[in-house]
Amino acid sequence: MCNSVCFIILSWVFAVLVFPGVPARSGDSALKDNITVRQGDSAVLKCSVDSKVSRVAWLNRTTILFAGTEKWSLDPRVILMENTAITEYSIQIQNVNVHDEGPYVCSILTNKKPKSTKVHLIVQVPAKITNISKDVTVNEGSSVNLMCQAVGRPEASITWRHQSARGGHKFVTEGEHLELISITKEQSGTYECIASNDISSSDIRRVQVTVNYPPFISKARSTGTPVGQRGVLQCEASAVPRADFEWYKEDRRLLNGINGLKIETQGKQSLLIFFNVSEEDYGNYTCVAMNTMGITNASIILYGEYRNALKSPKNSHC
Ligand SMILES: *[C@@H]1O[C@H](CO)[C@@H](O)[C@H](O)[C@H]1NC(C)=O
Ligand SMILES: *[C@@H]1O[C@H](CO)[C@@H](O)[C@H](O)[C@H]1NC(C)=O
Ligand SMILES: *[C@@H]1O[C@H](CO)[C@@H](O)[C@H](O)[C@H]1NC(C)=O
Ligand SMILES: *[C@@H]1O[C@H](CO)[C@@H](O)[C@H](O)[C@H]1NC(C)=O
Ligand SMILES: *[C@@H]1O[C@H](CO)[C@@H](O)[C@H](O)[C@H]1NC(C)=O
Ligand SMILES: *[C@@H]1O[C@H](CO)[C@@H](O)[C@H](O)[C@H]1NC(C)=O
Repeated sequence: MCNSVCFIILSWVFAVLVFPGVPARSGDSALKDNITVRQGDSAVLKCSVDSKVSRVAWLNRTTILFAGTEKWSLDPRVILMENTAITEYSIQIQNVNVHDEGPYVCSILTNKKPKSTKVHLIVQVPAKITNISKDVTVNEGSSVNLMCQAVGRPEASITWRHQSARGGHKFVTEGEHLELISITKEQSGTYECIASNDISSSDIRRVQVTVNYPPFISKARSTGTPVGQRGVLQCEASAVPRADFEWYKEDRRLLNGINGLKIETQGKQSLLIFFNVSEEDYGNYTCVAMNTMGITNASIILYGEYRNALKSPKNSHC
């Protein structure tokens, strides 16, 4: 396989590699340099030679890529540049990947004295999230573990932010894992995983955390309405999942569309509507809000024009 030329090359390559003291580091071509490229880009490894050079070669670690103009590497991504100047012996590595990172050596044999130019190729990879937890729904008080994995060179740093229902962003923690112990409803919302390493813009992905909690009635205001007018009792309940509502007068369940009543429930709010308030309508109503997590109720009074008529609505017109 190996002809005499090859043998000569191999022997001085061997000398260069095995006796690191041998390469003359005094020459200006013996600069140790780093070349930084992004994964997928092309890297040009430059080597200056002078006209007295008898043999040149490019090596990747201990593997010969090019010996003179002869290509030894089987990798189609490695090409010898059209070196216009006689003092230039440069190669290009196309579509660089992380395995290409490492030392490259341009070996020069001048008057039987070996010299070398070392180039350290550094491959950068933009931060990218490779895996992240799926959206979760949990009950209040349970624990949640969120995970976000990212690749990148230099290694991507990971931070978590919480975007609350009110819209504000808040830093939560750093690292792949986010643990929410005994979660509260305030901790529900969108969690953003941000992976960054300064190579390009950050990679951001989101996880939705839904916290189920039993309803609590946030609005239940008693209302004064004169006889003969349209009356509305309003009940508002915060709950996840959304609450279902029921209305009662004393122990009697009120149904939509019966006795001149309408129950209108939309989102977190339920309205009990009286088309035409009569004396008999005055009294103590109960709004019941329930979901899979629990049940609660609140009393709401429909009273006449005067508050002091509450206890005996029949006297409201005195
Ligand atoms: C070149 O990279 C190597 C390895 O990453 C590092 O140790 C060295 O300090 C760098 N040299 C220069 C000149 O940046
Ligand atoms: C350089 O050597 C490494 C390790 O053998 C290899 O994985 C990589 O593909 C080589 N790169 C080039 C451009 O020859
Ligand atoms: C993401 O991580 C989960 C949990 O560790 C694992 O089950 C899943 O296979 C991973 N998905 C991918 C695409 O790596
Ligand atoms: C409301 O009811 C009273 C008594 O039943 C009736 O006289 C009045 O016309 C009603 N008003 C409306 C707007 O229906
Ligand atoms: C309304 O009824 C509830 C119980 O059903 C009771 O606790 C509350 O005191 C009553 N309110 C009035 C003003 O009577
Ligand atoms: C309202 O809640 C109380 C206890 O919280 C319960 O005793 C009562 O029966 C409830 N009322 C209705 C109408 O559900």
